[in-house]
Amino acid sequence: MKLNHLNGGQQLAVKYYTVAIILFVAQIIFGLLSGMQYLVPDLLLGVLDFNVTRTIHINAMIVWMLYGFMGSVYWLLEEESKTEIVGLKLGNIGFWLLTTAVTIVVLVFLLIQSGPGDDFTRWFINEGREYIEAPRWADIGIVICMLIFFYNAAATFMKGTWSGISGVLVLDLVALAGIYIAGMFYTPNISIDQYWWWWVIHLWVEATWEVLVGCLMAWGLMKTLKVDRKIVTTWLYIEVALMFGSGILGLGHHYFWIGTPEYWLTIGGFFSALEPIPLVAMVVHAVYDAGARQMKGNNNPALAWLIAHAFGNFFGAGVWGFMHTLPQINLYTHGTQWSASHGHLAFFGAYATIIIAMIYIAVPYIRGQEGIGSNLPDGGWKWKWSLGLLNLGVVGMTIALLISGYEQSFIERAVGGSTWYGYFAAQIHPWFVQGMEWRMIFGLVTAVGLVLLIWDLLTIGKQKQA
Ligand code: HEM
Ligand code: HEM
Ligand SMILES: [Fe+2]
Repeated sequence: MKLNHLNGGQQLAVKYYTVAIILFVAQIIFGLLSGMQYLVPDLLLGVLDFNVTRTIHINAMIVWMLYGFMGSVYWLLEEESKTEIVGLKLGNIGFWLLTTAVTIVVLVFLLIQSGPGDDFTRWFINEGREYIEAPRWADIGIVICMLIFFYNAAATFMKGTWSGISGVLVLDLVALAGIYIAGMFYTPNISIDQYWWWWVIHLWVEATWEVLVGCLMAWGLMKTLKVDRKIVTTWLYIEVALMFGSGILGLGHHYFWIGTPEYWLTIGGFFSALEPIPLVAMVVHAVYDAGARQMKGNNNPALAWLIAHAFGNFFGAGVWGFMHTLPQINLYTHGTQWSASHGHLAFFGAYATIIIAMIYIAVPYIRGQEGIGSNLPDGGWKWKWSLGLLNLGVVGMTIALLISGYEQSFIERAVGGSTWYGYFAAQIHPWFVQGMEWRMIFGLVTAVGLVLLIWDLLTIGKQKQA
């Protein structure tokens, strides 16, 4: 593909987006496999066990989203800073370094899978921290690539001009990269280990990633709807203040039962209950802007996915998170499919959606056009159906998992008193099993939506518009 008409940052972005989509596909394939293993427990037993398929499913997700974020920042970098990217070569080296590391890690996960509980395993096979299982050598590689990325963003803005959006963005990237290091701290004490590990996981998704997508949303609304910069920047400051104000101590909702002092019950319950507020602000902001512009933009698929993001973030993180965040409730729901229900809707609703929107913003420029008109030759059925099927699929899975989660909370926890007997009674109950079946059905719907999405991204705007 010839990309000479794009600026340097945008050329880098196309590479990041490409790997992001490939890893998204991997995520879905391994998600389908792990879902099937709930129904057919000896599927691939001894070849690709549940712990392996699940690890690849969720690590591929984290990594494709990081690729998507880096791609998005590189995409807007030169336009927003009004100057050329300072380290294009370095950026390319970082891209290949990261991609090589990710490939090796995936191959090791697939072929070697696990090792004895010693330092060698931790350094070269699997670190054992859910979501960030990459072994230590790869952690160091990832940190180097993040530093290159951070340097490129910060130094380019430094050379060009700063804006409200870029200021928030660069400060946020410091926090995002810095927090990753907390997940590399090693201790044999499982409580202390979990304590630091949540710094990465919670403070990423409920603080730094949220702020990052706030910046992308602000930029995306200017781009697709021509919303005034002053308006989006003001909203951004308000959202960021609320997000950090509630999300940082909201961390406590993961400290209820891991052996930390009891005051976390109060702190975590209180602050995490406030976390939905900035998410409401984000919905109001997006819907208000879209209404004020009468939904008239130059890129309908991107705009639709931005709106999907605003609602997905609010429901997945805000509503589904709030449902189980008070310790009195979490006592019963902790670690059940209820958490998986929230995890799926939140990650998809808050992050997959906005990355897809950013890719749609890029696509017409890649094809040498200014936008995606509403008069597409095929009526735009592909983007509309993929939007519909992906969202229907994930919402369907979310509801199915929620029903299984309710059943677990009642039968295993409330009635069974959290005993082994209660656990197994819950696992074989028809409501649980049916939830797992419906999750597979909607998982397939999601997969079809993804195939259509890729087909659309590869073809939209290629024919002359009618
Ligand atoms: C986009 C933002 C968010 C994402 C991506 C997200 C994702 C997740 C995921 C994947 C888990 C499961 C973690 C595990 O494996 O144990 C989780 C747990 C949890 N989340 Fe969120 N979340 C978000 C926002 C929120 C918000 C805003 C709240 C509260 C209002 C919340 C409340 C919780 C709680 C209480 C748990 C613990 C569940 C348990 O005890 O098993 N989350 N979240
Ligand atoms: C084809 C569709 C999918 C299927 C069949 C599927 C299936 C699964 C399964 C079986 C697990 C393990 C749950 C467990 O440990 O009990 C899982 C975990 C997870 N999946 Fe998916 N998944 C799919 C798509 C997605 C998508 C689109 C996302 C988000 C963008 C996602 C995010 C997650 C997360 C965050 C977890 C960890 C949840 C937790 O620890 O509570 N999955 N998925
Ligand atoms: Fe959290």
